[in-house]
Amino acid sequence: MREKLYSKTECDELMVWPYVGEVSHDTPPPGLQLPLFNSSTIEIPHFVIDRYLDSPMKNSAGANNTFHIQSRRYLGNKFKLLSLIRKIVEERCKPYRNFCDIFAGTGVTGEHFNEKDIKIISNELLYSNYISLYAWLSPESFDGGKIKEYINMLNSLSCDGENYFSINYGGTYFTYENARKIGAIREKIEQMKLSFKERSILLTSLLYAVDKAANTCGHYDAFRKKLDTTTPIKLLIPDINQEKNCNNEIYNKDANVLIENLECDILYIEPPDNSRQYCDAYHLLENLICWNKGVVYGKAKKMDRSNLKSQYCLKSAGKVFSDLINKAKCKHILVSYNNTGESKDGRSNARIKDGEIIRILEEKGKVEIFEQHYKAFTTGKSATDGHTERVFYCKVRK
Ligand SMILES: C[S@@+](CC[C@H](N)C(=O)[O-])C[C@H]1O[C@@H](n2cnc3c(N)ncnc32)[C@H](O)[C@@H]1O
Repeated sequence: MREKLYSKTECDELMVWPYVGEVSHDTPPPGLQLPLFNSSTIEIPHFVIDRYLDSPMKNSAGANNTFHIQSRRYLGNKFKLLSLIRKIVEERCKPYRNFCDIFAGTGVTGEHFNEKDIKIISNELLYSNYISLYAWLSPESFDGGKIKEYINMLNSLSCDGENYFSINYGGTYFTYENARKIGAIREKIEQMKLSFKERSILLTSLLYAVDKAANTCGHYDAFRKKLDTTTPIKLLIPDINQEKNCNNEIYNKDANVLIENLECDILYIEPPDNSRQYCDAYHLLENLICWNKGVVYGKAKKMDRSNLKSQYCLKSAGKVFSDLINKAKCKHILVSYNNTGESKDGRSNARIKDGEIIRILEEKGKVEIFEQHYKAFTTGKSATDGHTERVFYCKVRK
């Protein structure tokens, strides 16, 4: 039975998705601006930037037992694309006073533009991501000394008995020892008297630590057959820059709902681009952070996720995307969407075709396409082709 949960091919494939590579922020090579894109009705300027990134994820802890926002495995994590996004913003969107990351995921894109005088609006459907975004980016202040004490206390917590987490996830996604500890820490956080910011910081510290201790390929659709991720779990301190967060706003809403009451200079849109639901891939983290202790079922031990499904993973993706763009009140729109090509099982195929994205954006303003090639990171065993990421830029008509 467990054989089916994890196939080597799948894991090799997955290794190339979420891992954060090392990126240099130097200027892209000159002479790469080529008008390439043609469709039957429109000719769109198309810029190509080559940026080869094949270093493995730098997931290390910083000095003083701290960790950073990007120290997490996440499908579609845009850490690698930041230099391209930055370039477009610098060349096309200045001046700007705020930046909205409406499908924020880990929040690395918003964080990249986070400055004292820039408001970052960060939004995410999953509550676990929202809590993490709140910890990293919200303006609510906190006492760093207190956080350190709390984290030391949680790390030294004793945990002998079984708990909800160890019963459901021990021996599969985690060693029994780690699972017991994770459950005990989560329960303790629930009982502590904390501000919302403190609670978010402690939960974020737990979430990142859990991600490192998980016996997976980077998501929770399956666990690895061999339980060899045995390093004891340890909570670290998130390296949060309080000063820069003073104007920010964080939301936990459906993007199409939030957009109704939103006005911004730059709207950055990076929805899921295929039928793989993020609530399926990160059910375990969502369950841990929500801590409703509901029933989990199936081989992968997923809880009920019916209220977390994203329309962007369904056939209706084009329609909801069009609705979002129609309602957007902003000056600039940047859309990041993968050209994943055609996969065997179809689950990874792009939900919205390029032509449709362009057509929808064209109704709003002038469109350009920026492209960046990079070599996907592999474990060394399976060579993968170079992968292309595009950013569609739209200067909204006044
Ligand atoms: C491709 S990922 C974004 C990754 C992000 N840019 C990063 O660097 O981590 C898309 C995110 O959109 C979220 N999402 C899906 N549907 C949504 C919706 N309708 N409203 C808001 N967020 C949604 C998913 O949970 C997922 O985290």
